[in-house]
Amino acid sequence: MRGKDDTAAGAGRNFRLALDSSARLPYRPAMTIQPEESAPESILIVDFGSQVTQLIARRVREAGVYSEIAPFTQAEAAFHRMKPKGIILSGSPASVPADGSPRAPQVLFDSGLPILGICYGQQVMSHQLGGKVEPGDSGEFGRAFLTVTEPCVLFDGLWSQGERHQVWMSHGDKVTQFAPGFRIVAVSDGAPFAVIANDEKKYYGTQFHPEVVHTPDGGKLIANFVRHVCGCAGDWTMAEFRKTKIAEIRAQVGDARVICGLSGGVDSAVAAVLIHEAIGDQLTCVFVDHGLMRLGEAEQVVSLFRNHYHIPLVHVDVSTLFLKGLEGVTDPEAKRKFIGKTFIDVFEAEARKVGGADFLAQGTLYPDVIESVSFTGGPSVTIKSHHNVGGLPERMNMKLVEPLRELFKDEVRALGRELGLPDIFVGRHPFPGPGLAIRIPGEVTRERCDILRKADAIYLEEIRNAGLYDAIWQAFAVLLPVRTVGVMGDHRTYDSVCALRAVTSTDGMTADIYPFDAGFLSRVATRIVNEVKGINRVVYDYTSKPPGTIEWE
Ligand code: XMP
Repeated sequence: MRGKDDTAAGAGRNFRLALDSSARLPYRPAMTIQPEESAPESILIVDFGSQVTQLIARRVREAGVYSEIAPFTQAEAAFHRMKPKGIILSGSPASVPADGSPRAPQVLFDSGLPILGICYGQQVMSHQLGGKVEPGDSGEFGRAFLTVTEPCVLFDGLWSQGERHQVWMSHGDKVTQFAPGFRIVAVSDGAPFAVIANDEKKYYGTQFHPEVVHTPDGGKLIANFVRHVCGCAGDWTMAEFRKTKIAEIRAQVGDARVICGLSGGVDSAVAAVLIHEAIGDQLTCVFVDHGLMRLGEAEQVVSLFRNHYHIPLVHVDVSTLFLKGLEGVTDPEAKRKFIGKTFIDVFEAEARKVGGADFLAQGTLYPDVIESVSFTGGPSVTIKSHHNVGGLPERMNMKLVEPLRELFKDEVRALGRELGLPDIFVGRHPFPGPGLAIRIPGEVTRERCDILRKADAIYLEEIRNAGLYDAIWQAFAVLLPVRTVGVMGDHRTYDSVCALRAVTSTDGMTADIYPFDAGFLSRVATRIVNEVKGINRVVYDYTSKPPGTIEWE
């Protein structure tokens, strides 16, 4: 299934990063949010550099409570500004016993607020409150089981005394002596203090990571903390997120100008609509139409933005420029490089034509963000851009506005619906920046693009008619540079082969083929061969990823 499970993949991928990350990680500044209206009930998440800190924020959001992540170096300022109802201390690649490893600001312990320490967070809290943390002999990494030894408010409605439950661990160090006032409420083989509690102070610590999906009850445990321990009502919604982000965008941008490249995809569209709501016509969108879009897609984007949302939109039809440049190009990397470079050149020229901008808006999502906070709190910002306009901010001296960078794909879809984007648009399958060019192995021509567009549209129409669209991560047709012999009526045909691809995935990193039934595939094949001149054979791609990739080039 697409969407719903994005977190699983996010967790899995980032978790591997977390385990590998003994080196310093680049520094990413905390979001600076200055809401115009009274702040919602909130949880402050103190980031010590774990690559899964964002998952804590997601779990808190799922519990209906607003949260902000602040690097430990800025946690004190965030604490005073936010006036949170509770605090969560994240994990970290650092080691508490090591010299110079990060600490939580003392003000957090003096505040009298509930605190949940996760992994390193548990250890640093224990250390700062008078307990002892030591390097473990072996550590625990991956799936582990804990046994509940005593009741605890975190386990309410969830776990009972004596039960064993699966959790996800990733630690070498461990608490060997807890701080005064604590009791042990769960143990595991590798961590005698799997969960500790100080009910009087409302301090809790888990050695495992409740924020990752590999701890099946972890989300509920975090919900118990924010609702039952911190007393948050749990009524925060995506509508609130929209309000908060709008205030944040206004504070960041002021009266400066913002430019946003629309790709036709969901993420850039949601980002653009949100930003437009915040700053109105200080935003200009640029849609570089390279002629490699699917059937009707360019028209849809233009109509949605111009006619429905009345967002200033520059639509540049540069299909001839792209198709001319692609003449004779058959190497997949050469195609990608040409398209990427030409896209930036056109975007830059258009941006200059509208008078430039101080900010570039991007629909970067959390799974795209692989930077995290350095546990030494270093000052340099590293942006890894996965987008077509990568490199442009530096060239044009623009700053970035990325309002979606803490969201996962399914949350962006929810925000898109909240902003009134049509369901059919919000739920669209991902589409690659280089467009149909990487679905036409061999030379790309206007004629072959037209053939592919027709076949692709038939395939997607049949998928929608069968009610399968939302169960598939991505489905598309590929036009092969292979001709085969067929017979239609009494005539011999010698035409191209079309391959159909459909996969399920959680984030595009790995994928399984979608198991259509034979009747469905044969219906699609018959329609394509009958209705699309130039194709006389249809095959189905049965390759998972790995070893295949989703796109053919
Ligand atoms: P692959 O083919 O690498 O694709 O298995 C994984 C996911 O990434 C998409 N994709 C791209 N998206 N620009 C994009 O914006 C690109 O150059 C690009 N190449 C692949 C692909 O459609 C799939 O969702």
